[in-house]
Amino acid sequence: MPEAGRYLWRYSIPWMSPGTLEYLMTRIATDPFDAVPEVMARITSPGLLLTCGTEGNPITIGWGSVGIIWGKPIFTVLVRPSRYSFGLLRRLGDFCVNVPAENDAAMKSAVAWCGSHSGRDGDKASDCGITKEAGIVIDVPHIRECPVHFECRSVHANHVLDAEIDGGIRNRFYPKGDLHQIWWGEILGCWRVA
Ligand SMILES: Cc1cc2nc3c(=O)[nH]c(=O)nc-3n(C[C@H](O)[C@H](O)[C@H](O)COP(=O)(O)O)c2cc1C
Repeated sequence: MPEAGRYLWRYSIPWMSPGTLEYLMTRIATDPFDAVPEVMARITSPGLLLTCGTEGNPITIGWGSVGIIWGKPIFTVLVRPSRYSFGLLRRLGDFCVNVPAENDAAMKSAVAWCGSHSGRDGDKASDCGITKEAGIVIDVPHIRECPVHFECRSVHANHVLDAEIDGGIRNRFYPKGDLHQIWWGEILGCWRVA
């Protein structure tokens, strides 16, 4: 289905909340590869916010990549089994990657909060003052305060394999196990503040 078709189908439903349409008019579809410089500029500092599950639990991630696999634009993210987000992703693999704006001090603290608190203990988004908005093409909320977000449909997931990984990386990143699971998400939509 073309993007515009998906968009209209999702939002022409009667329970659309007041203000949703106005909010959506502030977001425009963009080529995901045009947003890669912003991803690369923020991924290591302060980090990106991955939202997952229908509840949209935000978790800070510092690793990931955007590329082409299976002829599709793919966002790859890595989440350790010990995270609350891991269980959410196992149930609904779809996810959203939210990219904070440059020099946004409030978002910088929110990203730090989401990277040091767990969704097991409460609603992290409301605790750190960020807003979840309904997904546009997936059933996972995104973060309103992030000017760019990628909505991804899980097409594959697999663990980092202990027997196959470089010894130096294993020793440095996995001394206690908890090997990441990698999710490959087809980018169905990349949205930017108009
Ligand atoms: C800058 C930064 C980057 C992080 N990157 C990742 C990552 O790529 N994968 C991961 O599983 N955890 C990562 N973490 C840790 C999680 O964000 C953290 O454990 C979080 O509290 C888990 O939340 P959850 O239990 O709600 O899922 C990172 C933390 C920070 C501060």
